[in-house]
Amino acid sequence: MKKIKGKIAVVTGAGSGIGRATSIALARKGATLVLADINEAGMRETAKLISAAGGTSSAHVVNVADKRRMQAFADEIDTLHGRVDIVVNNAGIGILDDFVEGSLEDFEKVVDINLWGVVYGSKMFLPMMLRAGEGHIVNISSLAGIISTPGMVSYGTTKFAVRGFSESLRAELAGRNIGVTSVHPGMIRTNIAKSSQVADSALQGRMVEWFERYGRPPERVADKIVRAIQNNDMRVLVTPETYVMDLFKRVAPSVAEAVNAQFMNRFRKAINPEYGAKKAQRADADKKAPRHAA
Ligand SMILES: NC(=O)c1ccc[n+]([C@@H]2O[C@H](COP(=O)([O-])OP(=O)(O)OC[C@H]3O[C@@H](n4cnc5c(N)ncnc54)[C@H](O)[C@@H]3O)[C@@H](O)[C@H]2O)c1
Repeated sequence: MKKIKGKIAVVTGAGSGIGRATSIALARKGATLVLADINEAGMRETAKLISAAGGTSSAHVVNVADKRRMQAFADEIDTLHGRVDIVVNNAGIGILDDFVEGSLEDFEKVVDINLWGVVYGSKMFLPMMLRAGEGHIVNISSLAGIISTPGMVSYGTTKFAVRGFSESLRAELAGRNIGVTSVHPGMIRTNIAKSSQVADSALQGRMVEWFERYGRPPERVADKIVRAIQNNDMRVLVTPETYVMDLFKRVAPSVAEAVNAQFMNRFRKAINPEYGAKKAQRADADKKAPRHAA
């Protein structure tokens, strides 16, 4: 889609971070923005910034994990604009906890938002794109959709799935003038480190510090998203660590996974020595636990 001017663009999670920056970047290119988020105040701020940039937008309180609400939202936009040209399925959350200790409810919550939110956003807006004979869907995955990270099994599951979903959908829509892109950012300076649910508070404190100090600005992701829509790119990598890990994973997949896991485990133990001691105790207790009768 070479021309973004005059297009209708839906962005989920538009009240903060990457969603906000992408909304502003698309508005600067002349698109009319449809903002969706559960955070109304955040969306209001995004709408203000869009106005200041000379753009127009409407804001909609939508939980992307709610299938019925997503359908009603798509119907609302169909009535309001009669079409949708671009959808950026960006809303997402992070939960960091070991799979063994974490709850299934938390796992489901991550899947509901990070994966189902993306599937609903694609499924419910696609009919309008097919009707118009043109469109582009952008789905936000992560570096965690390229390489695995201990303590992030639920998040990683959804981000690998978003990548698989995007590539499969792109293949199915080939020849119909509707592009699909998956986006893989590394560390980006947004609210995600603060708003993530992290079992280890020492780790969360350090993450917030790291994201502030080393994270790249969300505008970098936004600019790449705009270019990907214009060039119909299949995949977008953002930040140096993502390029390095992507290459490492292609050249030596199992070594890359092992090195990354070892690095992350050491990192966590260095931040919180108690975490290392607890892990060792748990491993010991697991070995001594009585076996269930068959
Ligand atoms: N920041 C990073 O380093 C990074 C790296 C890789 C991928 N990502 C991905 O980028 C996307 C955006 O994250 P961000 O970093 O801008 O975080 P952020 O926390 O700044 O923004 C996320 C936005 O999504 C909204 N949201 C959360 N749950 C929602 C729901 N159920 N329905 C609607 N909106 C909801 C939040 O209210 C918030 O406004 C996420 O999918 C995240 O996984 C972020």
